[in-house]
This record gives sequence, structure tokens and C-alpha cells, in this order.
Amino acid sequence: MNCCNIRLETATPAQAEAIHRLIQPLARRGLLLPRSIEEVRTAAPPFITAEADGRIVGCVVLRDYGDGLAEVRSLAVQPDWNGQGLGSRLVARAVETARRDGFTWLFALTRRPNLFRRLGFHVVPKERFPKKVWTDCARCPIRDHCDEFAMMLPLDTIPSKVNVPRRETAVSTIPPSNDATLGRERP
Ligand SMILES: CC(C)(COP(=O)(O)OP(=O)(O)OC[C@H]1O[C@@H](n2cnc3c(N)ncnc32)[C@H](O)[C@@H]1OP(=O)(O)O)[C@@H](O)C(=O)NCCC(=O)NCCS
Repeated sequence: MNCCNIRLETATPAQAEAIHRLIQPLARRGLLLPRSIEEVRTAAPPFITAEADGRIVGCVVLRDYGDGLAEVRSLAVQPDWNGQGLGSRLVARAVETARRDGFTWLFALTRRPNLFRRLGFHVVPKERFPKKVWTDCARCPIRDHCDEFAMMLPLDTIPSKVNVPRRETAVSTIPPSNDATLGRERP
């Protein structure tokens, strides 16, 4: 398996079931929020997929919250493809897509802060997001003990082409946060 042979594409409605099959096992493990096939099929903008030999092995999608704000969500990579930079490539493509589509801010709620930090996101207090962002939390299995980092990327300060850092690059780790706001439950 070679990550460089993977193609990143815009999903078609016909691929909704395959994307759903990728997300569901990860959702059952509490790593992602579940998405219905219909949600996947009608997502606008559509999902971005990573395809290897005609099989979908990764995905990510943007959700538009209006006022130039979008969320990077449903980031998933088939477990046997983990650790080869594919997750990073998908986020980088989502950033490029968001910028191209005219969004000004991107955010993510994640337990993988280093992945997002390598691509320019920074940790922010969750209170910065509008209330409608939290509607998803009602169906989150860990809503009462949320351990996600809220991370943002202003899109007007980055180049249009997002470079995924090479592995030789020193990777900084996120220190344990002493910002009390970050560990709070989502409303
Ligand atoms: C999270 C997930 C998408 C990552 O996919 P992936 O293809 O393994 O991601 P990458 O290969 O780009 O990065 C994986 C690890 O490789 C290493 N790595 C990747 N790029 C690197 C680089 N440039 N330098 C050094 N190490 C690097 C890091 O250890 C990295 O882990 P970290 O980002 O937590 O530090 C995947 O594990 C997954 O689907 N998890 C379940 C669902 C989930 O948690 N989604 C995220 C919700 S926000």
C-alpha cells in the first residue's frame, strides 16, 4: 500500500453508501459522530474521498455554518491505511476546498490536535463558536465528558496550496491545556 497512489476526489451521490460504510464502524467505536446515508448523499459541499484501487479508504467533509464559517468533519481513514499521511492530506484538501469556496474560517472539534496543528490550525476556546455548532452534540456519545479540542484556521492568512509537512519536520505536541474553557462540556 502506497499513500502516494491514492486519489483525492469529490464524492458523487452514488458513493454515499461506501462512505457510510467507512464512517459507521468508527462511529460505533465513539471516534466519530454517526452520519446517515442520506446525510452523506446530500452533503453540500460534498464529501472529499480518498480512493485506492477503486475502494474508498478515507473521507472528510465541510459543513457550512454561514458567515464564512465551516467545520471540517467526518474525517476518517480506513484503519489499515493509518499513519501514512492520508488523514493529513484529506484535511489539507478540505482547507484548499474551503478557501476556494470562499470560506474565511475553518474549525474542527477533534481529539487529534497535532494532526490539525501541523496544518496550521490552533486551539481556541469553544465559546468562540456560534450556538448552532452544538446541535450535533445532542447525539454524541461522549457529550457529558467531551475531551475534544476546538481548533481554528483563518483562511485569509494561508497560501492557496496547503503543504502537508514531511515526516522529517519536527512535530510539536500539544501540551496539556490549562485553559479551563477547553475541557468544558458542550452546551
Ligand atoms: C484520525 C485519522 C483520520 C488519522 O488518519 P491517518 O491517515 O492515520 O493520519 P496521518 O497519517 O496523517 O497521521 C497519523 C499519524 O502519523 C504521524 N504523522 C503524520 N504526518 C506526520 C508528519 N508530518 N510528521 C510526523 N508525524 C506524522 C503522526 O503520529 C500522526 O498522528 P497525529 O496526527 O495524532 O500526531 C484516522 O486515525 C481515523 O480515521 N481515526 C478514526 C476517526 C477519527 O478519530 N477522526 C478524527 C476526527 S477529528
